[in-house]
Amino acid sequence: MVGVILKMNHPTRGQNAYYLTNQELHESNARSYPRRIPIAIKEANGIMVKDVEGKNYFDCLAGAGTLALGHNHPVVIEAIQKVLHHQLPLHTLDITTPVKDEFIGELFNILPKEFSSKAKILFCGPTGADAVEAAIKLVKTATGKRSIFSFHGAYHGMTHGALSLTGNVSPKQSVANLMPDVHFLPYPYSYRCPFQQGGDLGAQTSSHYVQHVLDDPESGIVSPAGMIMEIVQGEGGVIPAPNSWIDQIRSITQDRGIPLIIDEVQTGLGRTGKLFAFEHSGIVPDVVILSKAIGGSLPLSVVVYDESLDKWSSGAHAGTFRGNQMAMAAGTATIRFIQENKLEIQADKLGNKMMGSLKEIQKNSSSIGEVRGRGLMIGVEIVNTQQSPNKMQSYPPYPELARQIQHECLKRGLILELGGRYGSVVRFLPPLIVTEKQVDIICEIFDTAIQSVERKLLYFT
Ligand SMILES: Cc1ncc(COP(=O)(O)O)c(C=O)c1O
Repeated sequence: MVGVILKMNHPTRGQNAYYLTNQELHESNARSYPRRIPIAIKEANGIMVKDVEGKNYFDCLAGAGTLALGHNHPVVIEAIQKVLHHQLPLHTLDITTPVKDEFIGELFNILPKEFSSKAKILFCGPTGADAVEAAIKLVKTATGKRSIFSFHGAYHGMTHGALSLTGNVSPKQSVANLMPDVHFLPYPYSYRCPFQQGGDLGAQTSSHYVQHVLDDPESGIVSPAGMIMEIVQGEGGVIPAPNSWIDQIRSITQDRGIPLIIDEVQTGLGRTGKLFAFEHSGIVPDVVILSKAIGGSLPLSVVVYDESLDKWSSGAHAGTFRGNQMAMAAGTATIRFIQENKLEIQADKLGNKMMGSLKEIQKNSSSIGEVRGRGLMIGVEIVNTQQSPNKMQSYPPYPELARQIQHECLKRGLILELGGRYGSVVRFLPPLIVTEKQVDIICEIFDTAIQSVERKLLYFT
């Protein structure tokens, strides 16, 4: 009898639990996504993934925004196969190759001419965080200055320097001696405006404050080597900055000779409805950081920057894995496919449709504070309406409820991730190849999941 019970409790190879148990046994305590998305993925195609038990899911996490064309897109597979079949080198450090040359040509071709015509590119090592590290070193070297400005709610990665520029204090708390001289400024987050103003007024106050900090000789902060920002904060809770604010920040930095670094790691290649998110406002940045989608599912990251900053010397930022040829080939294929099929326009259209449906769901929900986003980068902020709102009518975040909604969605075959303050924002980050029909199904699943969670909430209160 005991043997039977033991056997029943011990998961077998074909079950999610088998892999999750092994994962827990062998992998670090620092693992993150599996805690909220406890499945083992066996196959993947387009927006769909299948777990080892044969259950299908709509993948609206898409490798945290990496999979612009979804899983295993034919043009990506073809590009990788071409590298393999022609015996091209797989890895070349930063030695050039025809594959690399083609990638640079395609990337420069889709960047706005005002920027690309005088830009240099650095291949990094190959994560977004390494490109952030490179960008900081670049502007520090070029200006000879030491401090960097970042924003509340920013996410720039998990390496020591990038973490220093990140807003979320939780992963920073246990790491002593992060990079010094980083200063955080208020981002225009209307729903939780730090000035309790919100809207245009809140954004205006933010830019006034930035200007004040830079110009007040007693602000306590020396003139920075650079300012780094996201046009839509992703991990911070899907917060799109207004175009007027972005314009103001560009003027403020330009007038004072401060290099503006735009982190497009998550927003780049069409996700927000433009090929690059900075194009919404039409500014010309000094430095652009790209990763995720540009490798067409494979690891690749680059910093593209104004040639006037190119003052560092050979080897100033190096790293072994800067020559992943399959990633460059997959990236070239991805860029071409996005451009030929105008997927950024599709992202804008379907993003608006998705946001419209989520706003309809909000009308019948007691726990959605705000639906916001740009293109196919959408967030739904889950709030506690049983508590009192602040003077801007914003309710406190409700992370436990967000987690339950995420869990109910997963049960119904929809993978979503959480972000934002306390993890209370449900994030939709589907591949750009998502169809109208799929958007409808995704929203229906979300609707039934949120209704189910709210019914339980009513029952227990
Ligand atoms: C805006 C932004 N910058 C940087 C990073 C770090 O990229 P990576 O995780 O590849 O190091 C991320 C990752 O999500 C990001 O969203």
